[in-house]
Amino acid sequence: MGMTNSSGQEGGFVHLPVLADRAPEELVWRRDGLYVDATFGRGGHTRRILAQLAPEGRLIAFDRDPEAIEASRAITDPRFRIIHAPFSELCDRLAELGFGDGSVSGVLMDIGVSSPQIDDAQRGFSFRFDGPLDMRMDTSTGENAAQWLARASESEITRVIDRYGEERFARRIAKAIAEERKENPITTTRHLADLVAKTVPRSRGDSQQHPATRTFQAIRIFINGELDELQKALPEAGRLLEPEGHLAVISFHSLEDRIVKQFFSDASNPGREIDPRIPLRADELPAPLFQPAKRIRPTEAECAENPRARSATLRVGVRTAAPWSSSLLPEEMRK
Ligand SMILES: C[S@@+](CC[C@H](N)C(=O)[O-])C[C@H]1O[C@@H](n2cnc3c(N)ncnc32)[C@H](O)[C@@H]1O
Repeated sequence: MGMTNSSGQEGGFVHLPVLADRAPEELVWRRDGLYVDATFGRGGHTRRILAQLAPEGRLIAFDRDPEAIEASRAITDPRFRIIHAPFSELCDRLAELGFGDGSVSGVLMDIGVSSPQIDDAQRGFSFRFDGPLDMRMDTSTGENAAQWLARASESEITRVIDRYGEERFARRIAKAIAEERKENPITTTRHLADLVAKTVPRSRGDSQQHPATRTFQAIRIFINGELDELQKALPEAGRLLEPEGHLAVISFHSLEDRIVKQFFSDASNPGREIDPRIPLRADELPAPLFQPAKRIRPTEAECAENPRARSATLRVGVRTAAPWSSSLLPEEMRK
């Protein structure tokens, strides 16, 4: 860790936040509130949120990556503190600090990987650089990608690459991995990237993309349990919000955005699953938990400047005054 670069970030690797100003503007609606930045990264959004808060405002950040926690030490603002934990533990971790349901004014989630994670070959996220095949966001715990690829069955590998990579050639790639590892354990990003490139037909339509893009995305999502994390964290955030509190979520691919969209849609539409033939008065329906959410995309100018912005979608929901209940939520989010 070392110098502070021109974007005010610590360390050798830079993260240019997507919707850097827009997301904090959408989030902060009272300057004296308690806010949560569930994905600190390198603190681009955190710094902008703090700039909007009054002296009595507070910001608690989360990140599961020890390097992000290290980078956060550069922020000495007394209104700020950080917790090293996955954001699926939002409620428990805030309860430990004395904050319960309805105590938070806004939660921001900028999900996925940060540029410092992708750009550091040692983290093993990228097929562009050779490094150990790790891919864990939290390097202090859990199984890494190489360990998983060494022990998973061919059918499990197929399922992961198919489901989380939406990769047409999942079965073929898994077979190649199972064959290769008999002779040569797959422990580096280059080894996996080259193997996938050899296996996937060259003629595939999306030739702009590296052939291993989808496989790497899939293994990363699986190793970090990314979709489960999101499914757990959204209702936790909703429960923590006070009436009029804002939940802002930036996602980077359709698998994530689908979950966010469904959550907001169900939480704001009490009548959706009720058979229209059942005669119910409006006051007999459960009350909506959120107002209908807004969808915001980065501008053309931002996408030109920051290619990561191209795939980003921000959804912002505003909490109603209805007491929290999970009965409206998609089944997998009910507790
Ligand atoms: C896209 S970056 C966030 C960048 C940040 N908004 C900024 O401006 O610097 C995503 C960050 O969230 C963290 N992260 C992803 N999933 C997480 C989870 N389930 N729990 C906690 N942190 C997570 C990653 O480690 C990464 O540092």
